[in-house]
Amino acid sequence: MNKLYKKHVFVCVNQRDNSNKKSCGHIGTQIRSNLKQEIIKRNLNQDIRINKSGCLGKCSQGPCLVIYPKQEWKFNLEIEDGEEIINKLITE
Ligand code: FES
Repeated sequence: MNKLYKKHVFVCVNQRDNSNKKSCGHIGTQIRSNLKQEIIKRNLNQDIRINKSGCLGKCSQGPCLVIYPKQEWKFNLEIEDGEEIINKLITE
């Protein structure tokens, strides 16, 4: 049996180019990429998976992500929040 991940992070990367509705992709894509690189760099990619997600239904509070299994949401993310998220993934 394959080993299961301890944590899954779903980062919204949905981008609406032709809409006035808010979307996460402009920042979410970069946050996801940064988190993924950092997890690989720290050799944690066997335990923590950083997934792309479509719209998570929280557009007005985006950019956002959710961490499973605790179902912990982070809203209004900025690129600079990556370090805090990594620390949370490692310590909690
Ligand atoms: S576009 Fe990101 S939650 Fe809807």
